[in-house]
Amino acid sequence: MTQASLPLHARASGPLSGVARVPGDKSISHRAVMLGALAVGETRVTGLLEGEDVLATAAAFRAMGADIARGKGGLWTVRGLGLGGLREPACVLDMGNSGTAARLLLGVLAGHPIRAFMTGDESLVKRPMGRVADPLSRMGARIEARSGGRLPLMIDGAEAVRAIEYEMPVASAQVKSAVLLAGLMARGTTTVLEPAASRDHTERMLGHFGAAVTVEPRAGGLGPAVHLAGEPELTGADIAVPADPSSAAFPLVAALITPGSEVRLPGVGLNPTRTGLLDTLVEMGADLAIENRREEGGEPLGDLVARHSALTGIEVPPERAPAMIDEYPILAVAASFAVGTTVMRGVGELRVKESDRIAATEAGLQANGVATTSGGDWLTVEGMGPDGVPGGGTVATHLDHRIAMSFLVMGLAAKRAVAIDDARAIATSFPDFVPLMEGLGAAFDGPARGAAGGSDKARRAE
Ligand code: S3P
Repeated sequence: MTQASLPLHARASGPLSGVARVPGDKSISHRAVMLGALAVGETRVTGLLEGEDVLATAAAFRAMGADIARGKGGLWTVRGLGLGGLREPACVLDMGNSGTAARLLLGVLAGHPIRAFMTGDESLVKRPMGRVADPLSRMGARIEARSGGRLPLMIDGAEAVRAIEYEMPVASAQVKSAVLLAGLMARGTTTVLEPAASRDHTERMLGHFGAAVTVEPRAGGLGPAVHLAGEPELTGADIAVPADPSSAAFPLVAALITPGSEVRLPGVGLNPTRTGLLDTLVEMGADLAIENRREEGGEPLGDLVARHSALTGIEVPPERAPAMIDEYPILAVAASFAVGTTVMRGVGELRVKESDRIAATEAGLQANGVATTSGGDWLTVEGMGPDGVPGGGTVATHLDHRIAMSFLVMGLAAKRAVAIDDARAIATSFPDFVPLMEGLGAAFDGPARGAAGGSDKARRAE
């Protein structure tokens, strides 16, 4: 991101109402492009998220020889190179703001006997890559990173990938996926042991493309053991990407906290490894309905209906964190409007997301008159209940899309407007956030209104 910051503010707008079509799931979109590029034949993807993060993944795979194109009506086709078929990229792979793109791609590269150089934006170069470099080195890759195991880095993929059994120190779908993607090129079975179940889109999609993945439950509150048989025949597949539950969270919470609102969100992904926020909001008293539950391409989905609700603060169980890891900033906003205290524990991973989300959320809440306390892996929010959230503050977003959108949502129901210093990062995951929310009745002002987002870029690339 080289252009100047784009400030934006949100102010109380009255009730929100209508139907909002939230863009495609970011996690599933990255994986569709990656597995499509590794498969033999054509993969056709509908509903792909055309945000900057996924476009960075597509650009990286194009740089290694895959044919990835957007057709009419947003149908994407990926003509794969087959396992092991990627060519050495002639340029540095710039993964922009996306930790998922960087870490999953490192897994893919670890299994190809080529050299690649990788970097990212000023947020991504601060994030830890050692968590994937460690297991990938054990599998035979050589990774030379900047100090602290950070980007930029160079990777030499393994000539012959070793299948390993890897006990993950953190519940991270990105680490799990990196190991499994490298394991595709290994002779023998790669096993990943998860301390807690993280999102399982990689496992589901690998099965969809023809790989043999088995998921073995483990006792004692541990996550499963995931086994992948190496060197499968991956065949191009059709994928319908559901709407992203992590993006749906923003209009959904906006409806819950704005009096008189009722918002419908069709076709939202309801994979049980992603629905922790919905469970939490229902425990807080949210009026949330799920209609028309169905399954497409191995992923469950449904239509969400959210109405303004009187919320009560709760203790969020720490074991729920992996299923709502990206939703804590918007939960903190919902909690600000609740009666009583909300306590979030076991959220240390938030410190290494696109920003330190505990610090960024706490600073944003305090700037807007909401009391909060925090520690290494916990955050509490004192709900303002009937007194209302004062607002009136400016929030530093640190190139973090979820901090940006969370505090804009706060502004829609606070007593005074809430400003964010920079809306640019929103285009990484939800390029049409501003017009979509305006369509529901939201009021925004500032230079970021109407600024070109990722989907405009994608359309121009047709
Ligand atoms: C993601 C996994 C999560 C999440 C990220 C997307 C994925 O990260 O925060 O936004 O697509 O695998 P971790 O698995 O590192 O917790």
